[in-house]
Amino acid sequence: MKRRFLGSQGLEVSAIGLGCMGMTIQYGELDDIESVEAIHHALDNDLNLLNTADAYGNGKNEVLINTAIKDRRSDVILNTKFGQVTNSDGRGGVNGKPSYVREACEASLSRLGTDYIDIFSQHRVDPDVPIEETVGEMGRLIAEGKVRYIGLSEASSETIQRAHREVSITCVETEYSLWTRDVEENILPTCLELGISLMPYAPIGRGFLSGEIKNIDDLNENDRRRDHPRFSSSNIAENYRKVQVLKEISFSLGFKPAQIAIAWVLSQSDQIVPIPGTKHRKFIDENIRATDIALSDKDLIDLNKIFPVGETSGDRYPSAQMSKLGL
Ligand SMILES: NC(=O)c1ccc[n+]([C@@H]2O[C@H](COP(=O)([O-])OP(=O)(O)OC[C@H]3O[C@@H](n4cnc5c(N)ncnc54)[C@H](OP(=O)(O)O)[C@@H]3O)[C@@H](O)[C@H]2O)c1
Repeated sequence: MKRRFLGSQGLEVSAIGLGCMGMTIQYGELDDIESVEAIHHALDNDLNLLNTADAYGNGKNEVLINTAIKDRRSDVILNTKFGQVTNSDGRGGVNGKPSYVREACEASLSRLGTDYIDIFSQHRVDPDVPIEETVGEMGRLIAEGKVRYIGLSEASSETIQRAHREVSITCVETEYSLWTRDVEENILPTCLELGISLMPYAPIGRGFLSGEIKNIDDLNENDRRRDHPRFSSSNIAENYRKVQVLKEISFSLGFKPAQIAIAWVLSQSDQIVPIPGTKHRKFIDENIRATDIALSDKDLIDLNKIFPVGETSGDRYPSAQMSKLGL
C-alpha cells in the first residue's frame, strides 16, 4: 500500500483512508459484523487511516470502531470529528466553544476506547466562535497528549489561514471529486501553500461515480441520498449522462469507474489523501488497487472535460446544510 504524508509534521498514512460513516448512517442497509470485518480487512491490507465523527449515529460509529480496533489500536491512525450538534429544539447546529471542544474530545476518547486521538477535526466551523479560540483549545489537547494532530472540515480559505496561524493544521477534510471540484479555486491552493493536506471526502460522489446508481429507485427508502438535490430524479438523469462517459473511459483503461474516480483525486496532488467510504471488503480491495493507477495527461484531460467545474446538476447538500459550508 502506497503511503503519503498528511500535513507537514511528519505524519505518514496510507494513500487512501477508510470513510466509516456509511457503517452507521446514510447509505442503505447496515451490518455491524460486516463493517467490523471491513475495518479489519483494511488494516490487514495496510490501509491504516480510519475516518469517523461523533455525529455519525450519535456516537454509534465511534463505538463500532472501538469494537473493531480494540486489540490493534497501534495499527490505526484514528481521525474523528466534533462540532455538529443537535440543539434543544431538535435541529442541527454547530458548537466550536473551547469548553465544548474539550467535552467532545473526552466523550470521543471514551467511545473509541483509547487515550489518544491521532487527528481531531472540527466538523463544521462555528460562525459564532472565533476560529482562534476553537483551535486554541484543540492545541491545548495536543499539549496534554489527548490529541496528536488537528484538522478542519469544510472551512473557508480564510478560516484555514487564520487557524493555521494559531496552531499547525494537518489536514482539511472537504468534499472533492470529479463532480465536486469547487475546492480547486481557493481551498486546495491554500492547503498546498501552507503544507496542509487535503482529505477529500466522498471521492466517489457518495457512490454515484461508481455508475451503479442510475435512478432514485436504486436507493433504499431509508437512504439519505434521497434528500440530496443531486440525487433527485431529474438531476440523477442529467448527472448520469456524464457518468456514462466516465464508465466508457474507465472500462477502456481496464478499471471500474469508482477506481478511476479515486485515482483522479489522488492525481491532483501528493498532498491529497482521499477517504472513500465503504462497508464492504471487496470495495476496499478495489479502492486500494486504485492507488496504483497512473492516469496519463490525456486521461486527466478527458476526465476533466466530462465534469467541468460547477456543472453538476443540483447542490451537493440539502439547503439547510449548504449554509454551514465554506465558513
Ligand atoms: N467531513 C464531512 O463533512 C464528511 C461528509 C461526508 C462524508 N465524510 C467522510 O467521508 C467518507 C467518504 O464519503 P462518502 O462515504 O460519503 O462517499 P464516497 O466515499 O464517495 O462513496 C461511498 C459510497 O460508494 C460506495 N463504494 C465504495 N467503494 C466502491 C467501489 N469500489 N465500487 C462501487 N461502489 C463503492 C459505498 O458503498 P457501500 O456503502 O455499499 O460499501 C458507498 O455507498 C465518509 O465515510 C465519511 O467518513 C465526511
